[in-house]
Amino acid sequence: MSILYSPETRLLTLRTAHSTYQMDIDEGGFLRHTYYGARADGADFRYLHRRYDRGFAGNPAERRNDRAFSLDNMPQEYTGFNAGDYRTPALCLVHADGSYAADLRYAGHEIRKGKYALPGLPAAFDRGGAAETLVVTLRDTASPLQIRLYYGVFEELDVIARATEIVNGGESAVYIEKAASACVDIPYGKWELLHFQGRHCMERQPERLPLGHDVQVVESRRGASSHHHNPFVIVCAPDAREYSGECYGFMPVWSGSHKTEVETDSLESVRVVTGFHESQFRWKLEPGESFFTPEVLLSYSAEGFSRLSRQYHDMIRYHICKSSYVGKPRKILINNWEATFMNFTTERLLNIARQAAALGVDLFVMDDGWFGARDTDDAGLGDWVVNERKLPGGLAPLIGELKKLGMDFGIWIEPEMVNEDSDLFRAHPEWVLKAPNRPPMYGRNQLVLDMTRADVRDYLYGCFSKLLRENDISYVKWDMNRSVSDVFSNALPAERQGEVPFRYTLGVYDLLERLTSEFPGVLFEGCAGGGGRFDAGMLYYTPQIWCSDDTDAIERLDIQYGTSFGYPPFTMGAHVSACPNQQTGRTTSMFTRGVVAMSGTFGYELDLNRLAQSEKEEVQLQIEAFRKVEPLLRNGDYYRLNELEDLGYYSAWEFAARDGSEALLNLVVKHVRANAPLINVRLKGLTPGASYRLDGSEETYSGAALMSGGYTFPMLWGDYPSMQLRFVRVE
Ligand code: GLA
Repeated sequence: MSILYSPETRLLTLRTAHSTYQMDIDEGGFLRHTYYGARADGADFRYLHRRYDRGFAGNPAERRNDRAFSLDNMPQEYTGFNAGDYRTPALCLVHADGSYAADLRYAGHEIRKGKYALPGLPAAFDRGGAAETLVVTLRDTASPLQIRLYYGVFEELDVIARATEIVNGGESAVYIEKAASACVDIPYGKWELLHFQGRHCMERQPERLPLGHDVQVVESRRGASSHHHNPFVIVCAPDAREYSGECYGFMPVWSGSHKTEVETDSLESVRVVTGFHESQFRWKLEPGESFFTPEVLLSYSAEGFSRLSRQYHDMIRYHICKSSYVGKPRKILINNWEATFMNFTTERLLNIARQAAALGVDLFVMDDGWFGARDTDDAGLGDWVVNERKLPGGLAPLIGELKKLGMDFGIWIEPEMVNEDSDLFRAHPEWVLKAPNRPPMYGRNQLVLDMTRADVRDYLYGCFSKLLRENDISYVKWDMNRSVSDVFSNALPAERQGEVPFRYTLGVYDLLERLTSEFPGVLFEGCAGGGGRFDAGMLYYTPQIWCSDDTDAIERLDIQYGTSFGYPPFTMGAHVSACPNQQTGRTTSMFTRGVVAMSGTFGYELDLNRLAQSEKEEVQLQIEAFRKVEPLLRNGDYYRLNELEDLGYYSAWEFAARDGSEALLNLVVKHVRANAPLINVRLKGLTPGASYRLDGSEETYSGAALMSGGYTFPMLWGDYPSMQLRFVRVE
């Protein structure tokens, strides 16, 4: 049992392998949060919370003579608003009479086996049948409104999923203006915020900030989770490092605009409110209807970031990614984008494919430019018919030739977008998001389709299901190349325009759901100008996401490093590209490019014909090396072996098999210096009593030695040198 209820104490306790989460129902029905932290079986954490009259802290009507009782300083599970708590609310809604208030009290709870699901939304699922669900129902004291709090406990994974349902049990509509997935109060301790900011071509850079007495906000208003602020955040102790210190993770399973507010109040209590962004949001909830928020995955580690990351990695690999590819070896792909951009023909593609096949690549991906009048990015989006000028006879001749080479075929699409210069826009100008009487805002000269509309989604479903049904396609890259703006739908009345931002993302999920479930044999890769929509919501449908449009190996080290805090390396699309690199002009060795790309779903993005013979031979070796370690990269445990402050000098990381049978140690030196200190890293996840042979040599080391004394790399020199060492347990 991972969810316990005691009728005597009215305590609800959620237990995971290493954490305890507890709430209690007080005599007035307030659902108080008593504890979240290291596991403490049998504890009743109510003793932690002492009450004092703090002044200017309102008292509920029935406790008005008890001035020490105020919601303003009580840790809570889900906060109403305009009811005495002046801190950041989780909920905001307007009743039919125009009043704003919600005074939420316990009305019952239910504990059940298995993990709850959320209609129309991606959510973590149970694979082995071990998860349990708690649903706590709160009711508003003065209206027939109910709030259901969902908790999905994944005991072994140390993860608790949370989501919220708002039920209108009344006879008039209400308007929801904010509904967070969860609120978590951390009343004691000193904390910092670690979040992952960035930009196009430099996503998810860790930034660690002290918390002041204010509200720190991590948000995206772009209609996508964004390059700029990933929705995943960590609240950590000031002394937290990779392998020590307390930290809490908050990971929304949501791909649209998001917001996480971290408030430190005057009594030093920290509140985290997280979920979709309420900007431009106003949802009309009719009588009898429910509104479900996206879910958020909470996780706690008392042993630093590394452990927290591995908890999320397992959660995502096995309980978020629903694709059957999670359990299958990935093919090695070659993508033509950086080799040709939109300037290609069947013959030019085959020329790249032939060389790639000869070196061992087994999946060819045709990127943007294959459809409509798509010669530049000013035209063609929306017209999902093959451009026969470039591809005479359609896709069949190309796919047929690829099959003869032993290669599978993959294709690029960008379903959510349209160019004005397209047959689709000419036929349906009303299908784009655009406010009446205003020119739209352009991004890459394209407009955003109104994904809230069923007819738009049906059109897209028709195009892509036909494409997948009629052609032997085993991979799809689903791109999204601008931020959403002009959020107005022609299909909704004025009073429902505030639903468009949320419904847009629901529409994207609906189309993804239809296509991924109808074509389970197709590997879908997410993309948004690189990693502009890298989040757990997308990973539910697409088990890998193109990590960044920056393919420079040295830049990628930082991008993949930051991404790994929340997301498993094997979800990050990573390719070896040409040098000098197209984004930075930097030159790195083929070997270093391979080491970096092998920390993700490995592939190539260049014309291999242009390589020198010696480099081609290196590619062949790289492919052999990747195939050998692919199961380890896909299923192994990932360890970052350097702290943030070492990053300017080198980057080191390891994959270790869960049974300790092998480990892959990687190092890239970013800044070689003369007479430099030696780099020593301590390996993780080995069997202490076993000995390990360094693959390709006669050297052996004990597991204990590699973990306590570490491994000292030889002095490396030149530009961006790297090493990749495989240690194999001697059985
Ligand atoms: C985005 C992607 C690239 C490529 C182009 C095509 O920028 O991230 O990989 O597919 O679009 O237009």
